[in-house]
Amino acid sequence: MDAPAKSGQPLPRLDARLKVTGGARYPSDVAVANPAYACLATSAVARGSIRAIRLDEARAVPGLLDILTYQNANEIKPINFFSKGGQAASSIMPLSAPKIWHDGQIVALVVAETFEAASEAAQKIAVDYDEEPPTATIGSPGATVNAVADVSEEHKDPGFGDADAAFAAAPVKIDAEYSTPTQHHNPMELFTTTCLWSDGKLVVHEPSQYVYGMKNGVAAQLGMDPGDVRVVSAYIGGAFGSKGSLTSRTAIVALAAKRLGRPVKLVSTRDQGFTIATYRAETRHNVKLGADRNGKLLAYSHEAFELTSRPDDYNVAGTTTTAVMYNYGAVATRVNVVHADRNTPGFMRSPPEVPYMYALESAMDELAYALQMDPVELRRINDTAKDPNPGNPRPYTSRSLMRCFDQAAAAFGWEKRSPAPRSMRDGDWLIGWGCATACYPTQIAPAAARVSLTPDGWARVQIAAHEIGTGAYTVIGQAAAERLGLELDRVKVELGDTALPPGPIAGGSNTTASATAAIVKACDAIREKLFRAAAGSNQGALAGKPIADLDLAGGRIVAGDVSEPLTAAFKYMGQAAIEEYVESVPHGLAADAMEKLYRGRVALAGGPKGEKLMFAFGAEFVEARVHARTGEIRVPRAVGAFAAGHIMNPRTAHSQLMGGMIWGISAALHEATEIDERSARYVNDNLADYLIPVNADIQTVDVIFVSETDREINPLGVKGLGELGNVGTNAAVANAVFHATGLRVRDLPIRLEKLLPSV
Ligand code: MOS
Repeated sequence: MDAPAKSGQPLPRLDARLKVTGGARYPSDVAVANPAYACLATSAVARGSIRAIRLDEARAVPGLLDILTYQNANEIKPINFFSKGGQAASSIMPLSAPKIWHDGQIVALVVAETFEAASEAAQKIAVDYDEEPPTATIGSPGATVNAVADVSEEHKDPGFGDADAAFAAAPVKIDAEYSTPTQHHNPMELFTTTCLWSDGKLVVHEPSQYVYGMKNGVAAQLGMDPGDVRVVSAYIGGAFGSKGSLTSRTAIVALAAKRLGRPVKLVSTRDQGFTIATYRAETRHNVKLGADRNGKLLAYSHEAFELTSRPDDYNVAGTTTTAVMYNYGAVATRVNVVHADRNTPGFMRSPPEVPYMYALESAMDELAYALQMDPVELRRINDTAKDPNPGNPRPYTSRSLMRCFDQAAAAFGWEKRSPAPRSMRDGDWLIGWGCATACYPTQIAPAAARVSLTPDGWARVQIAAHEIGTGAYTVIGQAAAERLGLELDRVKVELGDTALPPGPIAGGSNTTASATAAIVKACDAIREKLFRAAAGSNQGALAGKPIADLDLAGGRIVAGDVSEPLTAAFKYMGQAAIEEYVESVPHGLAADAMEKLYRGRVALAGGPKGEKLMFAFGAEFVEARVHARTGEIRVPRAVGAFAAGHIMNPRTAHSQLMGGMIWGISAALHEATEIDERSARYVNDNLADYLIPVNADIQTVDVIFVSETDREINPLGVKGLGELGNVGTNAAVANAVFHATGLRVRDLPIRLEKLLPSV
C-alpha cells in the first residue's frame, strides 16, 4: 500500500478546542443525578493487621451515609493479577481481611452527602493496628529475593555463549552497579471513580487505559455478567501506565453505590494516589561489558533487582530488550524481584526500557572512555541487524539506529566536542556532552472496530481505544479519512466506551498500529462495496470500470478524471448507509486472541517476541552544564532523532517525543519518591516535594524524524512512539554530567549533592 497522504499530515488535534475550553468531559466531570461523595481512609502503617476500627465519631458527622470496611463489605471476589491472565494491578484485596500489606492501603470507604462531610468522616475513623516492623526497599532487612524466571511463565533470562569466560578474557572491561529510584505517577487528573446502577446494571466512569479490562475485571469481582457492566472513559488526563490495570478502588465504589442505591463519586487525593495506584519500582543493576581493544563487544552480563510487593511478582525484565541491542559476543542475564512491604508497582512509560537501558547505556559510555573511543563509534562498531544470539539470529524488520545517531550528532554539533572529561568550559560552568540509544518495541494487539459511511460523506468510527493525551482521536480519524477520501472534520471518532467494539489496552505504545489496522480493514470493506456498486452498475460514469482503478476522494468515487458522487453508489445499492464491523488479529497471536480481547485480556505481538525483531530506535544527545563552584546542574539543550516507521501525524508525534525527552530529563535530575526506611512510608507524596521540572528547567528540546519505511510490521507501517522518547535520556544526561565533571554518578537522580565531590 502506498504511504497514505492524509495520514502523514501534521493536523491539529480533533479534540484540541474541547480540551482547552473545558468541553472535554473527563470521567469525574460526567454529571450524574443526585450523587453521593466518597472518601478513602487509608492505613497509617505498612505491615500488620487491624485490631479495631472505631467508627462512632465518623458516624456522627452530619450527612454521613455509609462506611465500608472489611467487617461489612468483604464480598468483593479476587481476580487474577494481570500477568496471570486477569486484570488486577495488585492481588492485595484491601477490604477482604484485617491484614495490612503496605502503607496507605485502603481501610475504609466513607460515603456522605457532600465531599466535605465524607472527608471529615474519613479523618475521624480511628484504627488500632497490631503493627510489625516493615521492610521498606531493596536491601532492607526482611526483604526476600527470587529470580523472575523461576516464577514466571513469560520471562526467560536471555543469554548465550560463556559470558563469564569472555568477560574474564576481555582486554577492556567495565563492571559497575547502577540504580534507579522509586517514581510515582502524578497525572494532572487524579484517580477517580464514579459508579451508578440501574436495573442491576452498572456504569463506571473512570479514567482507564483499558476499558474492556476494567469491565471484565469489575464484573468478576462483583460476580456479575460482564454484559451488565459498562465502562466509559472518553478522555484520560494523564495515564502513562497508571490507569492501565484495575486497582482495588473501582469495585469498592461500585459496591458502595449498590448499597446506597445512588450514584457514588470518588476523587482520591494526591497523596492517596501514591498508594492506591501503581508506580515505577526502584531497581538495581550489575552490568559487565567486555570488549577487545578495537571496541568490539565480547561479553555483556546484566543482573537486575526490582522492588515489588509481598504477594505479587510484578517485574519489567528489560533484559529482553537490552540483550538484542548490540552485537555482543556472549550474554548472561538474570532478573530478580525483591519483595517488601509495599504496594504493588506497575507500568510507567517505557517500563522495562527506562531503567534497563539507563544501565546499559551508562555502561556503554563508560566503556567508550575506557577505550578512548567516541561513544557514537562504539555503538556503530557494535550495531547489529539481527539478534546477536547465534542460536536465534532473528533479523530486525528495520533498524535505523545509526542513521538516528548520525542525524542527531550533526544537528547537535557533536564533532565540536572535546573528548576528555572536564575539558569544555564556559566561565564558571563546566560543559558536558553525552549521548545514548533510545529504543522501544513495536507492538500490535487485536482490535475490533465499526465504521459507517453515509451518502452525504460523513463517517463514524467506533472503537474502544483510548485517548490518553497522545492524540488518538486524531490519528484514528486520519486513518479513516484517508481511506474514505474525506476531510478529517467529516469523520466522527468515538473511543473509550465498552459500548463500542473492543480496542487494545493503551499500553506498550500499540494503539496507533492496532487501531488503524482495524480501521483500515473496515474502510477497505466499505470501499469494496461502493466500488462494486459503481463499477457493477449499468449506468453512471464508472460503469464497467475495473475495481482496481477506483478510489475515494472528496466525497466522490473517482477513476482517473471521471467520477461519481457517493450518493450514486448508495442509490445503486438501495442503501442509506454502509456499516462495517471488523476484527483485526495480528500475525503471531493465537486464534482466540479476539475472544480474549472481548474478555478484557491483553495480548501483544511484535517487539522482541516474534520470528523477527520489531523496534523503533532513536539517538539522544544532551548538553549538561554543571556550576564549578556550586554543583548546580542545568540541561540547556537536548536533541533526539527518532526512526519510528510511518509517522501518522508529525505534530502529535513531535509532542510525544519531546514530552518523553522532558520526562527523561526529569527522571535523570529531579524525580524520586523518598521512602522512610523505618516505616516503609512515602515521604514526599505531594506535588510540592515530589520534584518535577518546570519550564525554567527545560530549555531547547529538538526532535528530528528520521525517515523509515517498514512494510512488515503492520498495514500502515507505523511503529509506536509514545514511549520511545524517554528511553535513553537518563543515560544521555548522566553521560553528559560525567563529561562535564569527570564524576560518574551511577545512582539516579543526579542532584547537586552528588556532584559536590567534583566542585
Ligand atoms: Mo504504557 S507504561 O505501556 O501505559
